[in-house]
Amino acid sequence: MKNEASVLIVDDELGPRESLRMILKPIFNIHTVENGEEALRFIRQEPVSLVTLDLKMPGIPGIEVLKEIKGYNHDIEVIVLTGYGSLNTAVEALRYGALDYINKPFNIPQVEEAVKKGIKRYKINMLSRILTQTLNISKEEIQGVIKMGVTQLEDQLLYAEKLTVLGQLTPKIAHEINNHLQIIYGMAQQGLIKTKGEEVFNKYFDSIFTEAEKIDHIAQQLMKYGKPPEHNEDKINVQKILDHSLNLLEDFGETKRCQVHRFYREALPLIRGDKFQLEQVFINIIINASHAVEKTTNKKLIVETDLSSDGQSIEVTISDTGCGIKEENLEKIFFPFFTTKEAEKGKGLGLSIVKAFVEKHQGRIEVKSKLEEGASFKIILPITLDNKDNKREPRA
Ligand SMILES: Nc1ncnc2c1ncn2[C@@H]1O[C@H](COP(=O)(O)OP(=O)(O)OP(=O)(O)O)[C@@H](O)[C@H]1O
Ligand SMILES: [Mg+2]
Repeated sequence: MKNEASVLIVDDELGPRESLRMILKPIFNIHTVENGEEALRFIRQEPVSLVTLDLKMPGIPGIEVLKEIKGYNHDIEVIVLTGYGSLNTAVEALRYGALDYINKPFNIPQVEEAVKKGIKRYKINMLSRILTQTLNISKEEIQGVIKMGVTQLEDQLLYAEKLTVLGQLTPKIAHEINNHLQIIYGMAQQGLIKTKGEEVFNKYFDSIFTEAEKIDHIAQQLMKYGKPPEHNEDKINVQKILDHSLNLLEDFGETKRCQVHRFYREALPLIRGDKFQLEQVFINIIINASHAVEKTTNKKLIVETDLSSDGQSIEVTISDTGCGIKEENLEKIFFPFFTTKEAEKGKGLGLSIVKAFVEKHQGRIEVKSKLEEGASFKIILPITLDNKDNKREPRA
């Protein structure tokens, strides 16, 4: 699609003038003039967004034309064209407000890119001028808002890109996990046979089988990454799952380094959801919390459950007194592969899985954090069971 922006080509030589016109004609409205005098006359009569300016021309020197253009309307972007060996003039031109320089002979993609960039800048400048005048907002504020928008868009693109990569990788990773898992199963089976009858060993092997089944389940889920996820809808007691997750991590020594405080609201309603997924949610957040308190003297993990004020959701808040999260990272922490940990400690996948699982329960997650003071993750899960189903259960 053609851009309505106007570009003025100023060059005394027919060859470069015409080739620039041919390159840019499909994208912009093009005008051409042969010297500085004509250029200055043209910009006073017609709206121009960008000028490509040859620096070596008979009549008014290119650099003077540049100064006049910028003096007349500073918003007009100027790209200077430089021949071999005239880099000094190009640098001088940049000092006088030229946006960029292009070397002759032209490299087509470079010309297109430089002109597109110039037009974009012209439009942003115009927009901020209009907004500054009509809304009385400062240029810096507007640029801040634009920058924020662009950053958010870039972040979202990056997220989408990473998800695509993840989608391609995960079935392979899952396959690998499965291979090793088969060996673990086989060995455990052997162990069980060899130690048959010895109660003390049975307990260990039971644990190996239970945990291996969980890994198996994770691998199955990963294999289906990108396909519509399997989501069970059991009646579940969130506090029971929370307790189970905490106990499991305690058994593995994960929460050993912190004091755990539980503040549970009595008789919370059941919700409909996937036990396994919610367990993964809590486990990931608790492990993160236990990592966060590693280097702090105050090592508290506080787990609270409550009913939302409108009675429609269950709220689980997991807080720690750890290192906290930098403000600029608060949104990034849910991106796959975002991690601030060393390679062997974290892959940056935990919270992206947490977010996906919480969203599958039509829930949401809120994070608050103060650097050096701690972080708090609130998981809000809607109660989707209707009342007749929803017998309240006391704390497990
Ligand atoms: N409780 C917390 N306190 C401080 N920072 C946290 C906390 N929870 C998460 N983070 C930050 O968020 C990042 C992303 O967390 P996430 O769980 O997704 O990945 P990870 O823990 O780095 O790796 P993985 O979970 O894959 O082992 C962490 O690296 C850390 O910087
Ligand atoms: Mg983690």
